[in-house]
Amino acid sequence: MYCPMDCNVKMENRNRKIVIAIDGFSSCGKSTFAKAIAARLGYIFIDTGAMYRAVTLYALDHGAIRSGVVDEDAVRALLGQIDITFRFNPGRGASDIYVNGDLAEGRIRTIEVSNCVSGVSSIREVREKLVAMQQRMGRDRGVVMDGRDIGTVVFPDAELKIFMTADPEVRADRRYAELRGKGMDVTREEVLANVIARDEADMHRAISPLRQADDAVVLDNSHMSVDEQMAWFMERYEQACRK
Ligand code: DC
Repeated sequence: MYCPMDCNVKMENRNRKIVIAIDGFSSCGKSTFAKAIAARLGYIFIDTGAMYRAVTLYALDHGAIRSGVVDEDAVRALLGQIDITFRFNPGRGASDIYVNGDLAEGRIRTIEVSNCVSGVSSIREVREKLVAMQQRMGRDRGVVMDGRDIGTVVFPDAELKIFMTADPEVRADRRYAELRGKGMDVTREEVLANVIARDEADMHRAISPLRQADDAVVLDNSHMSVDEQMAWFMERYEQACRK
């Protein structure tokens, strides 16, 4: 069969595994998007926010956070005993997170964890431990990783960087629907306040603040369907593979 040179190059590039970094504001649908991309490309999906949430949950369970106040020294002291692992759950089409062997997937998504996670993720030693883990997980490429500092700190050499954003009101509506759908007892006001507070904390923390990498492409999905986002992504993916 005749296949022009161009076609060979294209096939070769498509088989080359790359790192896809997805950063952006909280509750933009980054994880849903990243998971769909990973399923489409046969890549591994890594939700780094879940890792910061897992450390926060452990800190809450072990008295290092009381009445919403994070005791940074106590969190540092606990770090050595926190073992985070992922196990693929075919039912969800994504990996569940385990802390010291215990399934933590449901418990890390509560509003209590959401309200404390910024205080934990701003601790230098926490970030160092989790960034090193994330770099190990993406060593062989072929990963879609979502977070706040993936394109800037974890994989500054990622072949494709996407910065996601959406209107805070739209994000609060989505998160509220998701939490209520899981039977959680929250108000929309509480969720909106948490979204805004986390944006502020993520953008203004001293270490690895949330910022758009210079070479990232912006995706504002306030008024986009999942299918539209996927079409948008596939165009950028083809471009990244041609480079
Ligand atoms: O993506 P998420 O909302 O589940 O993330 C939870 C928190 O973890 C978020 O408020 C900021 C922090 N985070 C971070 O500092 N760096 C990352 N790479 C991912 C999340």
